[in-house]
Amino acid sequence: MKRAFVLLLVLAACKQENGNAQHGKELMQKYGCTSCHEIPGVPGPRGSVGPPLDHMAARTTIAGKFPNNPETMMKWLQNPQSMDPQNTMPNLNVTPEDSRDMTAFLYTLK
Ligand code: HEC
Repeated sequence: MKRAFVLLLVLAACKQENGNAQHGKELMQKYGCTSCHEIPGVPGPRGSVGPPLDHMAARTTIAGKFPNNPETMMKWLQNPQSMDPQNTMPNLNVTPEDSRDMTAFLYTLK
Protein backbone atom coordinates (compact mmCIF):
# COMPACT_ATOMS: atom_id res chain seq x y z
CA MET A 1 0.00 0.00 0.00
CA LYS A 2 2.65 2.45 1.10
CA ARG A 3 4.90 1.52 -1.79
CA ALA A 4 2.15 2.12 -4.34
CA PHE A 5 1.65 5.59 -2.94
CA VAL A 6 5.33 6.46 -3.27
CA LEU A 7 5.31 5.19 -6.84
CA LEU A 8 2.36 7.41 -7.65
CA LEU A 9 4.18 10.42 -6.25
CA VAL A 10 7.24 9.67 -8.35
CA LEU A 11 5.12 9.27 -11.47
CA ALA A 12 3.37 12.55 -10.79
CA ALA A 13 6.70 14.32 -10.41
CA CYS A 14 8.02 12.93 -13.70
CA LYS A 15 4.94 13.74 -15.68
CA GLN A 16 5.66 17.40 -16.19
CA GLU A 17 3.37 17.99 -19.13
CA ASN A 18 4.18 21.61 -19.63
CA GLY A 19 7.94 21.48 -19.41
CA ASN A 20 10.26 23.62 -17.35
CA ALA A 21 11.13 26.76 -19.28
CA GLN A 22 13.99 27.79 -16.99
CA HIS A 23 15.61 24.38 -17.42
CA GLY A 24 14.98 24.59 -21.17
CA LYS A 25 16.90 27.85 -21.30
CA GLU A 26 19.88 26.25 -19.54
CA LEU A 27 19.71 23.26 -21.87
CA MET A 28 20.06 25.53 -24.89
CA GLN A 29 23.45 26.56 -23.61
CA LYS A 30 24.37 22.94 -22.93
CA TYR A 31 23.37 21.77 -26.41
CA GLY A 32 25.15 24.70 -28.03
CA CYS A 33 22.08 26.02 -29.86
CA THR A 34 23.56 29.52 -29.71
CA SER A 35 26.38 28.48 -32.04
CA CYS A 36 23.75 28.72 -34.80
CA HIS A 37 20.90 30.76 -33.31
CA GLU A 38 20.51 34.07 -31.59
CA ILE A 39 18.26 33.25 -28.62
CA PRO A 40 17.01 36.02 -26.32
CA GLY A 41 18.23 35.50 -22.75
CA VAL A 42 20.65 32.68 -23.61
CA PRO A 43 24.30 33.72 -23.45
CA GLY A 44 26.60 32.31 -26.10
CA PRO A 45 28.23 32.99 -29.43
CA ARG A 46 25.02 34.34 -31.09
CA GLY A 47 25.60 32.42 -34.30
CA SER A 48 23.71 33.17 -37.48
CA VAL A 49 23.73 29.84 -39.35
CA GLY A 50 20.10 29.38 -38.29
CA PRO A 51 17.39 32.02 -37.90
CA PRO A 52 17.15 34.04 -34.65
CA LEU A 53 14.64 32.38 -32.33
CA ASP A 54 13.04 35.52 -30.94
CA HIS A 55 9.24 35.66 -31.24
CA MET A 56 9.12 31.88 -31.74
CA ALA A 57 5.79 31.79 -29.88
CA ALA A 58 4.25 34.19 -32.38
CA ARG A 59 5.18 32.32 -35.55
CA THR A 60 2.77 30.08 -37.42
CA THR A 61 5.39 27.70 -38.81
CA ILE A 62 8.59 25.91 -37.84
CA ALA A 63 11.29 26.09 -40.50
CA GLY A 64 8.72 27.65 -42.82
CA LYS A 65 6.77 24.47 -43.39
CA PHE A 66 5.60 22.70 -40.24
CA PRO A 67 2.76 23.92 -37.99
CA ASN A 68 4.14 25.63 -34.92
CA ASN A 69 2.69 23.69 -32.00
CA PRO A 70 4.37 22.07 -28.97
CA GLU A 71 4.18 18.52 -30.31
CA THR A 72 5.77 19.40 -33.65
CA MET A 73 8.36 21.60 -31.97
CA MET A 74 9.44 18.73 -29.72
CA LYS A 75 9.79 16.47 -32.75
CA TRP A 76 11.78 19.12 -34.59
CA LEU A 77 14.21 19.59 -31.70
CA GLN A 78 14.73 15.85 -31.33
CA ASN A 79 15.23 15.07 -34.97
CA PRO A 80 15.14 17.95 -37.47
CA GLN A 81 16.83 15.78 -40.10
CA SER A 82 14.05 13.18 -40.19
CA MET A 83 11.47 15.95 -40.62
CA ASP A 84 13.34 17.71 -43.39
CA PRO A 85 16.50 16.06 -44.72
CA GLN A 86 17.21 19.15 -46.84
CA ASN A 87 17.59 21.44 -43.85
CA THR A 88 20.95 22.16 -42.26
CA MET A 89 20.03 21.90 -38.59
CA PRO A 90 21.82 18.77 -37.33
CA ASN A 91 20.36 16.16 -34.97
CA LEU A 92 21.77 16.96 -31.55
CA ASN A 93 20.48 13.83 -29.79
CA VAL A 94 18.04 15.89 -27.77
CA THR A 95 16.03 13.66 -25.42
CA PRO A 96 12.21 13.87 -25.32
CA GLU A 97 12.32 15.43 -21.82
CA ASP A 98 14.87 18.03 -22.88
CA SER A 99 12.89 18.85 -26.00
CA ARG A 100 9.83 19.47 -23.85
CA ASP A 101 11.68 21.89 -21.58
CA MET A 102 13.26 23.74 -24.50
CA THR A 103 9.86 23.96 -26.20
CA ALA A 104 8.44 25.48 -23.01
CA PHE A 105 11.18 28.10 -23.10
CA LEU A 106 10.77 28.83 -26.83
CA TYR A 107 7.08 29.55 -26.23
CA THR A 108 7.98 32.22 -23.69
CA LEU A 109 9.54 34.17 -26.60
CA LYS A 110 6.53 36.16 -27.71
C1 HEC B 1 24.61 23.74 -36.82
C2 HEC B 1 23.64 24.80 -36.66
C3 HEC B 1 22.42 24.61 -35.78
C4 HEC B 1 22.38 24.19 -34.47
C5 HEC B 1 23.53 23.75 -33.58
C6 HEC B 1 20.98 24.29 -34.06
N1 HEC B 1 20.22 24.73 -35.08
FE1 HEC B 1 18.23 25.13 -35.02
N2 HEC B 1 18.23 25.58 -37.01
C7 HEC B 1 19.37 25.63 -37.80
C8 HEC B 1 18.97 25.99 -39.15
C9 HEC B 1 19.91 26.15 -40.35
C10 HEC B 1 17.57 26.16 -39.13
C11 HEC B 1 16.65 26.55 -40.29
C12 HEC B 1 16.04 25.32 -40.91
C13 HEC B 1 15.14 25.65 -42.06
O1 HEC B 1 14.44 26.68 -41.99
O2 HEC B 1 15.12 24.87 -43.00
C14 HEC B 1 17.15 25.89 -37.76
C15 HEC B 1 15.84 26.00 -37.32
C16 HEC B 1 15.44 25.95 -35.99
C17 HEC B 1 14.12 26.25 -35.51
C18 HEC B 1 12.96 26.74 -36.37
C19 HEC B 1 13.11 28.24 -36.49
C20 HEC B 1 12.09 28.91 -37.37
O3 HEC B 1 12.23 30.12 -37.57
O4 HEC B 1 11.16 28.28 -37.85
C21 HEC B 1 14.15 26.11 -34.16
C22 HEC B 1 13.01 26.35 -33.19
C23 HEC B 1 15.49 25.69 -33.81
N3 HEC B 1 16.25 25.60 -34.93
C24 HEC B 1 15.89 25.44 -32.51
C25 HEC B 1 17.16 24.95 -32.17
C26 HEC B 1 17.54 24.54 -30.85
C27 HEC B 1 16.66 24.63 -29.61
C28 HEC B 1 18.81 24.10 -30.94
C29 HEC B 1 19.66 23.47 -29.83
C30 HEC B 1 19.08 22.24 -29.27
C31 HEC B 1 19.25 24.27 -32.31
N4 HEC B 1 18.22 24.78 -33.03
C32 HEC B 1 20.52 23.96 -32.79
C33 HEC B 1 20.66 25.39 -37.41
C34 HEC B 1 21.06 24.94 -36.16
